[in-house]
Amino acid sequence: MITTRAFTVGPTESGWARTVTELAVAELGPGDVLVRVEYSGINFKDGLASSAEGRVARIDPLIPGIDLAGVIVESDAPAFAPGMRVLAHGYDLGVAHHGGYAGLARVPAEWLVPMPAGLDSRTAMMVGTAGYTAALSVDALERAGLVAGSGPVLVTGATGGVGSMAIGMLAAHGYEVVASTGKADQADWLRSLGASEVIDRAEVSAESTRPLERERWAGAVDCVGGSTLAYVLRTLRYGASVAASGLTGGTALATNVHPFILRGVNLLGIDSVQTPIDRRRAMWDRIATDLRPAWLDTEHATTVGLHALGAELDRILVGGMRGRVLVDPNS
Ligand SMILES: NC(=O)c1ccc[n+]([C@@H]2O[C@H](COP(=O)([O-])OP(=O)(O)OC[C@H]3O[C@@H](n4cnc5c(N)ncnc54)[C@H](OP(=O)(O)O)[C@@H]3O)[C@@H](O)[C@H]2O)c1
Repeated sequence: MITTRAFTVGPTESGWARTVTELAVAELGPGDVLVRVEYSGINFKDGLASSAEGRVARIDPLIPGIDLAGVIVESDAPAFAPGMRVLAHGYDLGVAHHGGYAGLARVPAEWLVPMPAGLDSRTAMMVGTAGYTAALSVDALERAGLVAGSGPVLVTGATGGVGSMAIGMLAAHGYEVVASTGKADQADWLRSLGASEVIDRAEVSAESTRPLERERWAGAVDCVGGSTLAYVLRTLRYGASVAASGLTGGTALATNVHPFILRGVNLLGIDSVQTPIDRRRAMWDRIATDLRPAWLDTEHATTVGLHALGAELDRILVGGMRGRVLVDPNS
């Protein structure tokens, strides 16, 4: 029996368990392509999928890991030959289908993105779902009319995965980026990623009964939601847009119609999970070229093996991350 080392989660008689175990390759689930995973990453959703309270895991046990990149070892799909480097994220991966926290993953070909020229498994996983979401956000803002030189663009949750990637991608396009963070000691790091100004999270998450405030932002990438998204809507400039992807600051949105009907602002919803595969592959080509953060090859990313994963998964759920943490399932 061929097996692979895997990090699994799920309920047991003695409660929720996280285990590093050997799993039969035959148990990896359906799919026409077998991938040797070189790297995965840690996203907020991986934290949710790995905890009982998260209510995200839909199979039991589950190998989490919504991102993976590696080399094809077996394939029944004509477009994907053994030896090819690929990446995958989203759809059911790491939620209802075994994900990237294992040495091998079996994946449907229609979920796979051929590794774009200029990226490798490590840099692709530094980007991961978080960076892909940041890229979708920048793309959505530009489709809605944002151009470099139009004014400051706010990035919230700046030290996290989506935020730090958004800073690098916006800076690569020449935007003036203002980063908001709850981690004042990371201001220099955020500037090194491309932020021209760093402001306190408290400033952008304050509750207010005022329907509108001073017009400030030419655009915004918001992965925090809650009172932060409400603040952004009150302070966007006339006709500007916010790309909203996340909920680390809460799911409720207390707002009113004034930003929409008096300032013509746009609330752009961002979903990384179900993007049709052709658009996904095209977006990864942009990530490898014009949206590529300048620091992608030089930025240090902590890499953990399967035994050290638990602590990192707990950390992301309390907002304790700085940038991206990579997972090497072979160490
Ligand atoms: N729509 C999609 O397809 C999609 C895809 C990926 C991620 N997401 C969502 O986007 C969010 C961010 O994901 P991520 O992987 O970047 O997570 P992350 O690395 O943990 O980053 C989230 C950041 O939000 C800030 N934050 C944490 N708690 C907060 C609070 N109570 N109030 C305000 N800010 C808080 C922190 O940044 P600072 O300390 O710098 O403020 C934290 O680093 C999550 O909600 C995730 O589910 C959605």
